[in-house]
Amino acid sequence: MPGKEKIVYQCQACGYSSPKWLGRCPDCGQWNTMAEERLITPRRALGVTSSLGQARPEPLSSITSTAGKRISTKIEELDRVLGGGIMPGSVVLVGGDPGIGKSTLLLQALFSFDGTGSKNAGTENGGALYVSAEESPEQIKSRAERLGLETARANKAAQLMILSEISLEAILAAAEKLAPPALVIDSIQTIYTEELPGAPGSVGQVRDCAAKLMHFAKRSGTPVFIVGHVTKEGAIAGPRVLEHIVDTVLYFEGQRSHSFRILRTVKNRFGSTNEIGVFEMSDSGLREVANPSEIFLAERPLDAAGSVVAASMEGTRPLLVEIQALVSPTSFGVARRSALGVDSQRANLILAVLEKISGVHLAGLDVFLNVVGGLKIEETAVDLAVAAAAISSLREKKIPPDLFIFGEVGLSGEVRAVNNAELRIREAAKIGLRQAIIPKANLEKIKSERNGGLRITGVGNLNEAIEALFSSS
Ligand SMILES: Nc1ncnc2c1ncn2[C@@H]1O[C@H](COP(=O)(O)OP(=O)(O)O)[C@@H](O)[C@H]1O
Ligand SMILES: [Mg+2]
Repeated sequence: MPGKEKIVYQCQACGYSSPKWLGRCPDCGQWNTMAEERLITPRRALGVTSSLGQARPEPLSSITSTAGKRISTKIEELDRVLGGGIMPGSVVLVGGDPGIGKSTLLLQALFSFDGTGSKNAGTENGGALYVSAEESPEQIKSRAERLGLETARANKAAQLMILSEISLEAILAAAEKLAPPALVIDSIQTIYTEELPGAPGSVGQVRDCAAKLMHFAKRSGTPVFIVGHVTKEGAIAGPRVLEHIVDTVLYFEGQRSHSFRILRTVKNRFGSTNEIGVFEMSDSGLREVANPSEIFLAERPLDAAGSVVAASMEGTRPLLVEIQALVSPTSFGVARRSALGVDSQRANLILAVLEKISGVHLAGLDVFLNVVGGLKIEETAVDLAVAAAAISSLREKKIPPDLFIFGEVGLSGEVRAVNNAELRIREAAKIGLRQAIIPKANLEKIKSERNGGLRITGVGNLNEAIEALFSSS
């Protein structure tokens, strides 16, 4: 048991600590960075017998592995980002902007969850425990009705249990008694532990609650899902402070105005990171999108200049996206450069290389770039597609709709190889694209029999790419 406790306030930016709360840290001068911390006096200082000798190492060979004990949520896109299903005793943080659909996702995932295969299966009510500190049970009920979960239920025996409570101690007591196959806390910012002062949502509260939930998960083997809102103020008291505590961090992203939602793995102790799950939000809830490439290319204009298909990767998954560019004379003094969905620094660099190496004149022209569907692409393999879209719009020459591009552009205009070239090509062939422009170095390694009848051109630099794209038309 912990020794005597004392509460101090510590600056989250510089570590300065004070016995009382301060609005501004006197040491580093930042505002709102003080958070309560529990200071535990070491046991030895209190004269308590030492626990030395009580910790017992065990041989690795005698420990039973939990690998292969994953439990499916029956939502394939969610299983994918979790690394193949729910791991018993794991703590998963689901972060995202308010209103993006976190509650919806978890309600859908755990509505008929009975933990079949886990050691917590077969309790009195069978179903998961959904703790809502934000919504009343009636609100959750009406959401479940709107999503049509009640009628679609496969397992009549597993009853989802609802608890409206904000005290962590009360929540844990209820969970202990019920022993549910899974526990959902919606959200971490609205619950509080009675052991700390401070309002729910403060850094100390959020962190302490998460640590206690982690403890519960490990001790009982119950998988715990924690919902965390990304706060406007940024990192403080948002999901970021929890990232190192929990096992898995998923971010739910998307634009409210778009129906696509992307669930992204940021950290996973039990699987690969950078996986994504793609969903579409509708009146009846989140729908899985099994073939995102087709969806993201669905409304592509087939005969417009400035549009090109880029073969990108999201984790282990190839994803074809449309990149659009609009290049037009500026109507104000300073030409504007704007990039949505691709890194704008990177886009500026590519435009600079185009000007310098390929003699493309962009002075006095506005350049707007956009990745269709509200996607954000971070990898450099879309460089060549960005350059191609810009030139296509500038010269008003369209790029064949059945052509796709990938390749990284270097500062001297060279086109560099990217990883997973064959995966990208296979995905493109699957949805019916017939031509490709890819880095020469990638082409050399690809066995021709795997190309599936595609016409692939390998290019070593930007000028060769421009030549291959625009010389024939
Ligand atoms: N009555 C409704 N009809 C249709 N869609 C709704 C309704 N209520 C909520 N939604 C959708 O669900 C989203 C909110 O999802 P929710 O799971 O509550 O988000 P979060 O938990 O991340 O704050 C809304 O942005 C909206 O798209
Ligand atoms: Mg919610």
